[in-house]
Amino acid sequence: MYKNQANQKGFVLWFTGLSQAGKTSVGNRVHQILKEKGLKLERLDGDIVRQSLSKDLGFSKKDRDENIRRITMVARLLSKNNIGVICSFISPYRKIRDMARRETNNFIEVFCNAPLGICEKRDKKGLYQKARRGEILNFTGVSDPYESPQTPEIELRTDQESIEESTNKIIKYLEENSFI
Ligand SMILES: Nc1ncnc2c1ncn2[C@@H]1O[C@H](COP(=O)(O)OP(=O)(O)OP(=O)(O)O)[C@@H](O)[C@H]1O
Ligand SMILES: [Mg+2]
Repeated sequence: MYKNQANQKGFVLWFTGLSQAGKTSVGNRVHQILKEKGLKLERLDGDIVRQSLSKDLGFSKKDRDENIRRITMVARLLSKNNIGVICSFISPYRKIRDMARRETNNFIEVFCNAPLGICEKRDKKGLYQKARRGEILNFTGVSDPYESPQTPEIELRTDQESIEESTNKIIKYLEENSFI
């Protein structure tokens, strides 16, 4: 039995991981399944936010932190109003992810864990190639750090699991913790 919209609890599902680790793919699939169950949801994804809310920002640590600070504000308002927010951002810095955790209700950190080599081989956007050629600077994993979560609520091994398996882990977590 799933919660209906009237008694839904807000939450923030926060996908973090390298570019091409699967944050958007798994996030979209989770969104689709929860939507079919009738939950109130919102989706915040790096590619879209970078073209809108954070259009003026680059990829220095300062700008990345500012990007996450803005997103956190949006996620906070939505989750406070009992909406499930599905966020997918590389968000490489631990400290600012922990700030997002403190500032929002029911923050669920989802570590999309796949080795750099696998992510680089996928390279659907051709960004790793560009980064290796030096055409993109501050690229996470190549010329910028990624600080892995130490105690994420959920860890996905997206190099070993299918998108469906990763999605099921998240649905199971939400069920076990009475979010759905
Ligand atoms: N188990 C898996 N989980 C997620 N994605 C997978 C998996 N296996 C293969 N893939 C593929 O890897 C790619 C992951 O790309 P996706 O855009 O989801 O990554 P991302 O983490 O959002 O990257 P970016 O930070 O660049 O937006 C997709 O093409 C997806 O089909
Ligand atoms: Mg993405």
